[in-house]
Amino acid sequence: MQVQAHAKLNLTLDILGRREDGYHEMQMVMQSVALSDLLTITPGTGQVRANLSYLPADGRNLAQMAAAAFCQATGQDVPVDIAIQKRIPVCAGLAGGSADAAAVLRALNQHTRAGLTPFQLAQVGAGVGSDVPYCVLGGTALAEGRGERLTPLPPLPVCQVVVCKPPFPVSTPRLFARVDLRKITRRPDTAGVVAALEAGDLAGVAHRLYNVFEDVLEPRRRAKIDEIKAQLIDCGALGASMTGSGPTVFGLFDSPQAARRAEQRLREQYREVFLTQTV
Ligand code: C5P
Repeated sequence: MQVQAHAKLNLTLDILGRREDGYHEMQMVMQSVALSDLLTITPGTGQVRANLSYLPADGRNLAQMAAAAFCQATGQDVPVDIAIQKRIPVCAGLAGGSADAAAVLRALNQHTRAGLTPFQLAQVGAGVGSDVPYCVLGGTALAEGRGERLTPLPPLPVCQVVVCKPPFPVSTPRLFARVDLRKITRRPDTAGVVAALEAGDLAGVAHRLYNVFEDVLEPRRRAKIDEIKAQLIDCGALGASMTGSGPTVFGLFDSPQAARRAEQRLREQYREVFLTQTV
C-alpha cells in the first residue's frame, strides 16, 4: 500500500498546566497541509527504511512503533516493511514522525479490515506519541489534554501556506522543560479562532495565530523566528506563526502570487522552504 502522511500546523498552541505524569496540559488548534511523506508498506519482516540516513531504522522509528501498537491493540499479526520517502522536514514542529505513524495505523486498519473507528485508531496512536491521535484524524481539529482529546472543527478555508524551517533543531522535551507557566503572559485567543473557523473567516483565523512556545525560545532563536514572520507578513501573509515546538514558521496567504513571492524571497535565505496548501 502507498499512503500519504500529511504535515500539521499549529494555528494555536497553548500550555495550560503541568501534569503529574510529567506531560503538559495543552490546547491547540491543528491543521493539515498537503506537504507530506510517502510511505510504501509491504508484507515483510518489520524493517523500516527511509531516504534519509539519520532517521532511526529500528524500533525507535514511530512508524514501526505504530505497527507494533496496532498489532497489540487488535491482536493481529501483520509483519510489514515500511519504506518512508521523507519530504516533511524533521525535528521541525510539523509532526512528520507522528504523521508517518498515523499513516501506518490507517493503512493497517484498512488492510486488515480491523474496523477500528478513526477515534479508536487515534487512541491506539496516543501510546506512540502525543501528536499521533490528531494525525490519524487530520483536517482542522482542537487537540486538548496531552493531545489525545480531539474535537473536529469546521475546516479552515483552503489557502496557500508558505513553510520555512530555519537551520537549527529544537528539542521538544528540552523546550517543554524551559516552560515557566508563571512567565507566560501572552496566550492565543483559542475561542476566537474557533469562532472564526465557524464563520469561515480565514483572515479572522490568520490574525489570531499564536504559539506560546515562541516566548520560551532563547532570545537569539526567537529573533530569527520573528524575522521570518516579518518577511512573510511583508510579502502579504494574512498571519504568521511558529508551529509546534518549532523552529518552523508558516504564513497563511489568500493570494497565490503573494505566497509565491514569499516562497522565492525566503528560498534565497533558507534551504527548507515549501509552498503548500491546507487540506
Ligand atoms: O508524546 P511525545 O513522545 O511526542 O512527547 C515528547 C516529549 O514532549 C515528552 O517526553 C514530554 O517531555 C513533552 N510533552 C509534554 N506535554 C505534552 C506533550 C509532550 O510535556 N502534552
